[in-house]
Amino acid sequence: MFDTVFTNLHAATMRDSADFGIINNAAIGVTDGKITYIGPDAGIATQDNVIDLDGAWVTPALIDCHTHLVYAGSRADEFERRLQGESYADIAASGGGILSTVRATRAASDDALYEQMTARFTHLFREGVFGIEIKSGYGLDLASEGKMLRAATRLRDELGVPVQRTFLGAHAVPPEFNGNADAYVDYICDIMLPALAAENLIDAVDAFCEKIAFSAQQVEKIFTAAQKLSLPVKLHAEQLSDCGGTETAARFCALSSDHLEYTNETAIKAMAEAQMTAVLLPGAFYYLREKQLPPVDLFRRHGVPMAIATDHNPGTSPILSPLAILNMACTLFRLTPVEAIAGMTRNAAKALGWQKRMGTIDTGMDAHLAVWNISHPRDLCYTLGGRPCRAMITGGLYNPFE
Ligand code: NIG
Ligand code: FE
Repeated sequence: MFDTVFTNLHAATMRDSADFGIINNAAIGVTDGKITYIGPDAGIATQDNVIDLDGAWVTPALIDCHTHLVYAGSRADEFERRLQGESYADIAASGGGILSTVRATRAASDDALYEQMTARFTHLFREGVFGIEIKSGYGLDLASEGKMLRAATRLRDELGVPVQRTFLGAHAVPPEFNGNADAYVDYICDIMLPALAAENLIDAVDAFCEKIAFSAQQVEKIFTAAQKLSLPVKLHAEQLSDCGGTETAARFCALSSDHLEYTNETAIKAMAEAQMTAVLLPGAFYYLREKQLPPVDLFRRHGVPMAIATDHNPGTSPILSPLAILNMACTLFRLTPVEAIAGMTRNAAKALGWQKRMGTIDTGMDAHLAVWNISHPRDLCYTLGGRPCRAMITGGLYNPFE
């Protein structure tokens, strides 16, 4: 009747935000890679191909909806400089920061980039992630942005991982356009975006709206070009200051606005109106030792769903542990455990426009699930370390660890 049935488990379906959508003593049936039964163990007929999960907890696979997973090089030297008092903006202004990773990434071969990215993905997978957004943005020219997006495409096609490939040409102004950001924006809109879209390498378009990066007017130009190509948009906004990015993003009905520490209530109302998701990134907040918290209460009050992601990148969030990020969402941003886990499942799916395929345990959804040695779903936010992920179920296939 089913291709596989998983029994003797407790499910945190995440269908209900009040109580994790818990079903105790549950079973999950899978057919053709989709969930075709979720309900009480007792309600499912006996058949072949039964996997007994021995009382483990099962959640939807975690979705990391904001990452910069493709890059070469390390910025550990900048980590030390910041510890000695230099700021992220000072280091960027001195030619370090994003541009230092651009130099290393441009110099790396296709295979080296792919292998380093895949190694990073393996760490995320080992802690429950199957489903990821991967940005370009360390190439900043046509050849190198293409190289990054092709690496992300290989992860999708060779390993079957659900990947959203996001073009982030507007991450920093590259040295060739130094002092001429407007000309670089034209190069993005007229050359890079159309060429990369024609090669079918782009699923979404992002930009970094910040004093040290691009203005809201420049972002508007890029979003207009994306819209002409029918590509969804999203934005790095209000991370270090409020430059009006989120209000611009809302006018384009962006999927999400990300970071948001310095956003304001008018922008949040616009997000609610445009049905956007707020993607919160506690890893960058932690590494930059930021003080200004994102306005979590305002997101709650205006009904803006909150997603949580690693923002994995070599500068501001060199973290490959989604569970550490869940903990930080609670300890630093004061999310409840159920909000944090919804932020990496249901709301992360929404941030990517994937809510009809992933993010909850429900019939019709892709059978991408994480199996945990825990005694309650809140434990995923509570402890650090300990490797609680026992197995991953990907498209209904059971992959136990060890
Ligand atoms: O999401 N804010 C801009 N982009 C990244 C950092 C990139 C970098 O420093 O390399 C972020 O934090
Ligand atoms: Fe980012």
